[in-house]
Amino acid sequence: MKTTIFQRAVFGAIFLLMSIASPSSSLAEQTFYSWKIENYAIKKPLGGFTGNAQRGRKIVINQDKGNCLACHSLPIPEESFHGTVGPPLQGIASRLNKEQIRLRVADEQKINPATIMPGFYKNPKENNRVDDNFWGKPVLTAQETEDVITYLMTLK
Ligand code: HEC
Repeated sequence: MKTTIFQRAVFGAIFLLMSIASPSSSLAEQTFYSWKIENYAIKKPLGGFTGNAQRGRKIVINQDKGNCLACHSLPIPEESFHGTVGPPLQGIASRLNKEQIRLRVADEQKINPATIMPGFYKNPKENNRVDDNFWGKPVLTAQETEDVITYLMTLK
């Protein structure tokens, strides 16, 4: 049977919808790049990504992403609420180096098992809260985590 122009148009539309519904980038974001701790630090950039400080600043503010202001104060004057649960992050890059900051953002529990700070790039296999929405994937992607770390490095 020969396909009609109408059939081809329908198949074309279905194919287009399928590619919109499952962009390949969302698959890439699911990938967990494993990291290892050396001297209370993670030496290698997560996934080998290079961070961007301007993007990192936005992720830090974004309540669906980092939401760091819920617990920390930061030099971000346009935001009115700054939390006090965690230590202020002004000057963090003078206290810690980039590799030490990387571990603290990825998984602060490795420094203090009792911390309430969520691990933003924690190994999902270590996540035992199965009802957690984030089960199976880190809170931030490797790229986003590197963006946040690069932003924190500007806070001298
Ligand atoms: C639910 C509260 C909470 C959130 C949200 C949170 N933190 Fe934290 N953070 C803490 C607490 C509390 C500590 C203190 C250390 C501890 O508990 O072990 C901490 C410690 C840190 C440290 C180490 C500071 C130091 O002086 O050693 C860094 C860096 C840090 N947080 C960055 C971030 C960033 C970046 C975000 C957002 C992506 C964030 N935190 C989100 C609670 C939080």
